[in-house]
Amino acid sequence: MGDLIGKVAIITGAGSGIGAATAECLADHGAAVTVTDINFEAAQQTADIIGQRGQQALALKQDVTMREGWVEVFDRTRTTLGVVNVLVNNAGVSGAGLDRFEEEGGLDAWRQIMNINLDAVNLGCRQAIAEMKETGGSIVNISSVMGLVGGAGPAYNASKGGVRLLTKSIASYCGRMGYPIRSNSVHPGYIWTPMVRQIAEVHEEVSSEAELEEMLRLQHPIGRLGVPEDIAAGVKFLASDAAGFMTGSELVIDGGYTCV
Ligand SMILES: NC(=O)c1ccc[n+]([C@@H]2O[C@H](COP(=O)([O-])OP(=O)(O)OC[C@H]3O[C@@H](n4cnc5c(N)ncnc54)[C@H](O)[C@@H]3O)[C@@H](O)[C@H]2O)c1
Repeated sequence: MGDLIGKVAIITGAGSGIGAATAECLADHGAAVTVTDINFEAAQQTADIIGQRGQQALALKQDVTMREGWVEVFDRTRTTLGVVNVLVNNAGVSGAGLDRFEEEGGLDAWRQIMNINLDAVNLGCRQAIAEMKETGGSIVNISSVMGLVGGAGPAYNASKGGVRLLTKSIASYCGRMGYPIRSNSVHPGYIWTPMVRQIAEVHEEVSSEAELEEMLRLQHPIGRLGVPEDIAAGVKFLASDAAGFMTGSELVIDGGYTCV
């Protein structure tokens, strides 16, 4: 259980869903974690759960789209927990129902979704490179199956596809520069979190969460939707030294969603 002992990790959007499960999982395996979220109370709740288990967690309010906030998050983590060697860029929005090709206002939604899901990942990666280029580390970017195939709103698809290639670009750059930083993306299928449950409110073909869950379940050959812990396990592996030969990779954890 201790394969992350000595690691100090920052996980964004960790007040809910995949981010919260990832923070708990990394802490369970020995990492000290900074839990950030735009919703501070939610971040604090995750940090409290981890703290109650006798593990180290710091909660910080962070809007990932704000550049100066990134410097503060790394500074506060370094002074409180130690030198950062893992960054998980997890915060994101679905933009479900907002970004449609033929709707007025779609362009504003596009910009907002790209800003949170892609531009902010770029900000986090740049700060992580500056912080970790001497001491080394692992960047894990949460993309999606929607970064591999179409099927979501245009901005969500484009942002997650962008995260996939940004991740590879960083891996290649760090290699060229001789920086001991690995960079990998994770591509979840549908995971039953508040983000997905919210789709029920805007989806024209479903009238309840139960109907949505069943519709999505049928798209996963494994016969169920994912749970946040399914993704947390993959992130934990990429953060650990066991993934020491992995960089520029895409870890697909999707119950077979993309194999059909
Ligand atoms: N749930 C899925 O099926 C699924 C599938 C593929 C990929 N993902 C990706 O996984 C990540 C987590 O999704 P989730 O399902 O756990 O969602 P979620 O809605 O449960 O959690 C997302 C968290 O991000 C935070 N957040 C939103 N905007 C922010 C900002 N500007 N700054 C800081 N924090 C912000 C929210 O407050 C929330 O706590 C997202 O990047 C999402 O796109 C989710």
